[in-house]
Parts: sequence; structure tokens; C-alpha cells
Amino acid sequence: MLILTIETSCDETAAAVVRDGRLVLSSVISSQVATHAEYGGVVPEIASRKHLEMITPVVRQALDEAGVMLAEIEGIAVTRGPGLLGALLVGVSMAKSLALACRIPLVGVHHIEGHLLAGFLEQPVLFPFLALVVSGGHTHLYRVDGIGRYRILGRTIDDAVGEAYDKTATLLGLGYPGGALIDKLAQQGSPTAVKFPRPLLHDKTLNFSFSGLKTAVLTHLKKQSHTPEGAELHDLCASFQAAVCEVLVKKTEAALKQEGLQRLVVGGGVACNSGLRHAMQQLATRLKIELQIPPPVLCGDNAAMLAVAGDAYLTAGCLDDLAMDAIATWPL
Ligand code: KG4
Ligand code: ZN
Repeated sequence: MLILTIETSCDETAAAVVRDGRLVLSSVISSQVATHAEYGGVVPEIASRKHLEMITPVVRQALDEAGVMLAEIEGIAVTRGPGLLGALLVGVSMAKSLALACRIPLVGVHHIEGHLLAGFLEQPVLFPFLALVVSGGHTHLYRVDGIGRYRILGRTIDDAVGEAYDKTATLLGLGYPGGALIDKLAQQGSPTAVKFPRPLLHDKTLNFSFSGLKTAVLTHLKKQSHTPEGAELHDLCASFQAAVCEVLVKKTEAALKQEGLQRLVVGGGVACNSGLRHAMQQLATRLKIELQIPPPVLCGDNAAMLAVAGDAYLTAGCLDDLAMDAIATWPL
């Protein structure tokens, strides 16, 4: 089946053409990051307007790059939620318009379902597996027994890990979104230079908490009489990253053991993080389990990732009709 996928849940307008839920023929991502950077975060109203501006050219480019015509598309999968309502509505409206005008079957997909199945585009993953989804809005551990069969094992009780990276970057004067920049600076610093807390590390649940870590950075900065730069900044970033990675690894290990799982998939924007990728690789080697982390381009928000679940639902005839609405808060 040849499907068109559309993603507009936050600040990336994305469309892709994927064959059989596996072969990515095109994947176009138009990022609004530069626009929102001057406000220090995503401004929902601006995000919706930018999506409106970009959705048609992005969909057209995805079709052109794949070398297919709209008439050849056999199904459409769109992010239905969760996300910014106004942003989601742009993608959902585009998907419904195309479905109506061209009589193409339509299905709405959960954004997190996209992230946790993105790895299937690269190589087949066997069920069951543990999925750690780490992004700007989510820090969730799921047991995945099949497409549509997800059980939440743990989640953040406050900030998502990407949010903690971005807020910490703002505190350090690195701009928004600063996750990737902290990662880069951390590579030149010492992870043991500053002893930051490991929130909920010894807690019996599989939940996470990251807001205290950001506050610990703020407290540390207040104690200093100057803004950190050079080696001091590198050390601060490395120490922050070490705290984040230790908690993520420890909880992931506990979840794998609790569920008796032998496979681990990591997804979401923070899965681009070099420290986390390395730490998860070490964990996999130590526990002798299979690890799959998609390439960075499939970790951040993109439309191709929707094709795995989208294709499966469309093939099974689990369709949505034109009454489908966008859902801002939608548990998986
Ligand atoms: O999945 P994503 O693109 O969007 C959401 O669904 O939220 O994730 C974006 C998040 C941002 O918080 C960004 O700072 C973070 O992923 N991020 C990183 C890195 N690259 C992106 N965080 C840490 N290290 C990175 N290399
Ligand atoms: Zn995302």
C-alpha cells in the first residue's frame, strides 16, 4: 500500500510517502524552530499559522520527491494528537480534504505511536519490546506487544526530559531549543564535575521527574557569581547530561527486568542525544539484549514514522471518517 502521512502536532510541518509501512520514498520536514527561538519556546498561535503556510508546499514536495501522483495514493495517515490543537487541526484538515476530494481511506494516528514504531522503517523489530519515548513533551516507558497493543509502565510526573534540556539551556543562556547544544557542549566536559541530583532514582515506580534537576542547575548558577563559559560550561552540561542519562538507563533497566523483555527501542527527539545513545548501547551490551534506536532524522518529529501504524490500520480496514477530530490531550 502506498500511503501519504502528515504530521503537524507541534512545530514541524511534515509529510512523507511510504510504501507498505516500510519503504520511505520521501520524507519532508519543514521546521519552525527558528521562528519560535526568538520567543524562547513554541508559540501555539504562530505554530498554527506557519503550518497553514507550509502544509500545501510540504505535501506537494513529498509527492514530487517520491515521484508519485495524488491519484496513486491508497491511504492517508495523519497525526490526530496529542499536541497543540490549532497545529493538529491544520494537518487533520489537510488529510480530511485530500481524503474527501480524492476518495482516499483515512486514519488518525497517535503521535507517540509514531515515535515508538519509527524504528520499524529501518529494520523489522520483533514483539514484544520495551519502548522508551523521550521528547519535548514525553518521557514514557511502554511495553509493546504489537501494533495497537501498548501498556504504559512509567512516565514523567512533571517535566519531560526534552523540556528539562530546553529549560536548562535557557538558564545557561544557550537559546531555544537547546537540547542538541547541551549535548554538543557536554561532549567536551567532565560528567563528574558537578554533582546534580538523580531524581526518583531509588523510587520503586518506573516514573521519572526532571523539574528538580532543572532547579538544581538554577541553584548552582545562583551560587556562582558569573555566567559559566568555556570549560566550566562544558562541565555543567556534561554533569547535567550524566544525571539525565543515569536516571533514564536505571529506570529502563528496571522496566526490562520487571517485564522480562529482551528488546529495547528508544525514540523521540531526545533519542538523538549522543550520551543517551551511548549509555543505552552500554546497557544493551551488559544485559545482552537487542537495542534499536532509529537514525536521528527518524527520532525527531517527522511524518514517515506514522506510516508503520498507519499502514497496519489502513490495511486492516480500521479507518476514520471525515468526522475525525484532532485531540490535544490523548493518552496512548
Ligand atoms: O520528538 P521531538 O522532535 O518533538 C516532540 O515531540 O517534542 O523532540 C524535541 C525535543 C526538544 O526538547 C529538543 O531539545 C530535544 O528533543 N533534543 C535533544 C537533542 N536533539 C533534540 N535533547 C538532547 N540532546 C539532543 N541531541
Ligand atoms: Zn514528537
